Amino acid sequence: MSAVLELAEVTVRRGQSLLLDRVSWVVREGERWILLGANGAGKTTLMQIAGAQLHPTSGAVGLLGELLGTVDIFELRPRIGVSSAAVAEQIPRDETVRDLVLTASYAVLGRWREEYDAVDHDRADALLREVGVAPLADRTYGTLSEGERKRVQIARALMTDPELLLLDEPAAGLDLGGREDLVSTLSVLAHDPLSPATVLVSHHVEEIPPGFTHVMMLRGGKVVAQGQLEETLTAEALSATFGMPLVLEHHDGRYAARRKQHHRG
Ligand SMILES: Nc1ncnc2c1ncn2[C@@H]1O[C@H](COP(=O)(O)OP(=O)(O)O)[C@@H](O)[C@H]1O
Ligand SMILES: [Mg+2]
Repeated sequence: MSAVLELAEVTVRRGQSLLLDRVSWVVREGERWILLGANGAGKTTLMQIAGAQLHPTSGAVGLLGELLGTVDIFELRPRIGVSSAAVAEQIPRDETVRDLVLTASYAVLGRWREEYDAVDHDRADALLREVGVAPLADRTYGTLSEGERKRVQIARALMTDPELLLLDEPAAGLDLGGREDLVSTLSVLAHDPLSPATVLVSHHVEEIPPGFTHVMMLRGGKVVAQGQLEETLTAEALSATFGMPLVLEHHDGRYAARRKQHHRG
């Protein structure tokens, strides 16, 4: 399958620090990647590269068949769906949920809201159903719980029918129920063959939705391990990623991790 995203030896330097250090990575159509790493590992920086928001200091980035630096990024960006804290901050609190999803295509197509046609309305409603918030369509964003907001953000990111979906820590700040609802929603999306290639950033293996296929593990801007999820996500790789000995469990398609206890005798 063809590459949606292709990084070759990508380095991002800020002063003396290397935010990313020679990262090479290929994301293909149909793949669903988990990007794991501790706070400060470089996950958001990598997502900014993947979303054409940031150019590397060195290395090459192929995105949707184009080479970053040789194309108009304003033509690339609408083909990439992004949900992140930075995007969420821009969302007006007094918009209705349905309009928020609809305006994603407005921002891209430059049309007035009055001119949305039935196809757009149907797509917005279908996406709200798919992420499980259809009954909230007429509520304003400001009245939603954090978990409901996260799901609306994902519907909005999908509205333009992107070829690449980037979700930067969508489970951050959710309570247990909210996290479990989100994991279920993301699992439905992961199993949908029509969903775009997806990268989901997290620092908790408990948040990995069943149906995700690959994992990229970062520490200090460097790749610790990457590849097929089941064979790459091991206790050893996870321990190296988080810098402490960890035990990893895998049951019913879900993962859990905790610190390895020292046993005497
Ligand atoms: N403009 C910048 N200048 C210097 N350091 C930065 C800058 N932006 C981010 N960093 C640092 O780069 C590291 C990686 O950040 P980030 O990609 O946001 O990590 P993550 O998303 O994995 O938590 C962090 O240590 C952060 O403090
Ligand atoms: Mg981050």
